[in-house]
Amino acid sequence: MVKELLAKLSNAHGVSGSEGSVVSVIKKELKGHVDEIREDAMGNLIATKKGNSFKVMLAAHMDEIGLMVKYIDDKGYIRFVALGGWYGPTLYNQRVILHGVNGPCVGVIGGKPPHMMDDDERKKGVKVDDLFIDVGAVNREEVVYLGIDVGTPVTVDREFTALANSRVTGKAFDNRAGVAMLIKTLKEVRSPLTIYGVFTVQEEVGLKGARTSAYSLDPDCAIATDVTIPGDHPGIEMKDAPVAMGKGPVVTVVDSSGRGLIASRKVVGWLKDAADANNIPVQLEVGSGGTTDATAIHLTKGGIPSTTVSIPSRYIHSPVEVIDLNDLEAGVNLLKAALKKKPIL
Ligand code: CO
Ligand code: ZN
Repeated sequence: MVKELLAKLSNAHGVSGSEGSVVSVIKKELKGHVDEIREDAMGNLIATKKGNSFKVMLAAHMDEIGLMVKYIDDKGYIRFVALGGWYGPTLYNQRVILHGVNGPCVGVIGGKPPHMMDDDERKKGVKVDDLFIDVGAVNREEVVYLGIDVGTPVTVDREFTALANSRVTGKAFDNRAGVAMLIKTLKEVRSPLTIYGVFTVQEEVGLKGARTSAYSLDPDCAIATDVTIPGDHPGIEMKDAPVAMGKGPVVTVVDSSGRGLIASRKVVGWLKDAADANNIPVQLEVGSGGTTDATAIHLTKGGIPSTTVSIPSRYIHSPVEVIDLNDLEAGVNLLKAALKKKPIL
């Protein structure tokens, strides 16, 4: 069941550069379903299904946005840097998990109660740099004794749960939704092509694992699987984010107003044709916001025709991301259908 798979992946913890726990989940899931599975020097997990000489790279980043300890003061309060794009108020008063050498340790990002804020403070909002973690320790030594030190990775503590309909919520759907889509595709796909399923590291801090793995694999074309922002809830408009949750997976035509990816029309056409021929709902997207691993991949070597298949996910880069599982299932079906034959490039 894709729901259980996504729950496992969402509840796993893997901030950029510390993706190990996610790797373990993926390895277990793929055991016996691929011809070869290995980790490269960067930590990317590369699962290969052998086929003919045409090589397709499917890339899903494993990392989630999180934090890293940078300073522990004498009273035991912990300062951190943000790894990835956090909005200050999202972190304020969250429970977090610090992944120290003695195992996970719970902490809270504390903050002044509203009673104590003056108008200026309320207006100023919350800056990530001003936040701190409280693990209950009374001094620096106690924090270190817990196994926490400079460099300890930190993630938000939030369990996956179901909402109404086929909708679910949790943390790190960016990009465990893409990871789930890729795992399920690799398990079920029947294709004459050689498929590299690459679970990449460090996307949220600069598309790094995708860059190195695309270089070494040198595929004929590539698809990143990720999430994208729907414009179907209050506070955001369809004209600004013209895709909706529940209407199918999204194929990128352009992202980040062309500064990220201008997708290969041929790869987009290959996916669109597969969707049409198999009655799979699909949305095309020209986006102005974020980008994906495909941006790094398509600029590799002499250029690799690429696009992204993404799952509309509300409230991304927060612990309450929401997706519709039907979009995820349709995304798997779309990839499986397209991979039955190679694109005409
Ligand atoms: Co992201
Ligand atoms: Zn992402």
